[in-house]
Amino acid sequence: MKVFHERCAGLDVHSKLIVACSRIAVAEGEVRHETRSFGANTKALLALSDWLSERGVTHVVMESTGVYWNLSGTCWRAISNSYFASAMHVRNIPGRKSDVNDAAWLAELLAHGLVRGSFVPRGVTRGVRPACSRESTSRARPPVRSLGYSWHAAALDAADVIPVQTRQVGEAVLREAQPQARCAHVAAQEHGQWFGGHAPVDSPAGPLATHYRCDPEPDARGTMTSPGGVMAQASAAAAFDEEAAVYDDGFGRNPVGALFREVFQRRLAALVAPGARVLDVGCGTGEDALFLAARGARVHAFDVSAGMLEVARTKAAARGVDASLVRFEQRAAEDVGAVAGTPFDVAYSDFGALNCVDLERFGRGLADVLAPGAPVLFSIMGRWPLPAWAAWSLTPLGLRQEPPRRATPRVGGRPVPTAFPSFAELRRKMGAAFVWRTPRALGVLVPDPHFAPWLARHRRAFAALAGLEELVRGFPVLRGLGDHLLFEGRRR
Ligand SMILES: C[S@@+](CC[C@H](N)C(=O)[O-])C[C@H]1O[C@@H](n2cnc3c(N)ncnc32)[C@H](O)[C@@H]1O
Repeated sequence: MKVFHERCAGLDVHSKLIVACSRIAVAEGEVRHETRSFGANTKALLALSDWLSERGVTHVVMESTGVYWNLSGTCWRAISNSYFASAMHVRNIPGRKSDVNDAAWLAELLAHGLVRGSFVPRGVTRGVRPACSRESTSRARPPVRSLGYSWHAAALDAADVIPVQTRQVGEAVLREAQPQARCAHVAAQEHGQWFGGHAPVDSPAGPLATHYRCDPEPDARGTMTSPGGVMAQASAAAAFDEEAAVYDDGFGRNPVGALFREVFQRRLAALVAPGARVLDVGCGTGEDALFLAARGARVHAFDVSAGMLEVARTKAAARGVDASLVRFEQRAAEDVGAVAGTPFDVAYSDFGALNCVDLERFGRGLADVLAPGAPVLFSIMGRWPLPAWAAWSLTPLGLRQEPPRRATPRVGGRPVPTAFPSFAELRRKMGAAFVWRTPRALGVLVPDPHFAPWLARHRRAFAALAGLEELVRGFPVLRGLGDHLLFEGRRR
């Protein structure tokens, strides 16, 4: 098929994440694809712009859905030819393979001249129109799309930024016809969310935020329930970087944690044959990866926290683990679909890494990289941990803190966006590519890990509870009330 553009790229744009795939013709009939994910703040968009320029990309395409096309101002600054493809058109072109990500598919279409462009407004209209639309001012909608928009719009030659909190302010901007006005900035304080900002300018709306704030802020109840976005990944990474040096000491020595790991590893050992290719998602300091590598499995272990990975690599070297058997990589679980070395025979995730992950995106990517029939095993924090609820209920009213699993967990002193999916939610979010067994509980009778000092003094009682728990962890009702839940399934 004739190639019209030898160096092009497709962008799959979400509110907080952009997946870019470059398609470069390197020799006659030979094409190199590279896929990378970027955030949606200005810094990340500039990095994306550099990434495209470094590859000599001359043409870029993205779907013209929602308001996200506004990011073009920055990320295509260096690129003269940008296409906004009609989503309906590009999705309906025959030949799309389900194992190709959207960005790669768009790049492929563009290379072969199959993209039909959409209308793009210019100038101030482009900057302000979405802020004045009903969508971004609707009370019923969360501000995320508008925020996403504002970041993208901030990228538009963003010398100056003004806040647009409501439709009226947006219209005022138009009335004032400030030539420098380019960016709608939805103030997010009222929603307790993080938000972006730029240096203040002579704005009709008064003084503004001066910096991008990267730390998510809990809302009034102290909860943050949207893991998985780029900012959530960044806060998980920052928190676990902080915790990395002491994680094994705290967790490794905790008798309840050790019990959970032992149960998990026992099941893992039954699922993983020597030589199997295994994915460890949110591997942390690599305890399970090293456990499997010592049994001859080939483990690709990844985590969003560089600090945790550094500890993992140091441990691997200290234990003399064959380096060809375990590979540690910094990667977000949401990007699992682009992992190299596919297909994998087994995937697992231990100790709540998936509580911090957007399961829908993760499920889609995981389905792409697993062999048919591959088992998956996840240990995820549950929403209704019986021992913690019992302890909370028995605490005198005046001494009670937040009920279990209601406040945002803090790691290394930082909040980590966390969700506690039920079995039904997990099944739905992971998608139709997986089938599941009913879950089992970890920590439904033994006290939660915070009771370590009590357990150290009552070893017999602990052993008895652990033995009993082994018998009942799969019982109806009890199986949903664990501190962690053990989800086991397989790729169809
Ligand atoms: C409680 S630790 C568990 C680590 C390890 N699985 C274990 O068994 O000890 C949770 C891990 O999930 C990682 N994590 C959090 N969000 C992530 C994401 N979106 N993608 C990949 N890893 C993530 C954290 O960096 C952390 O290392």
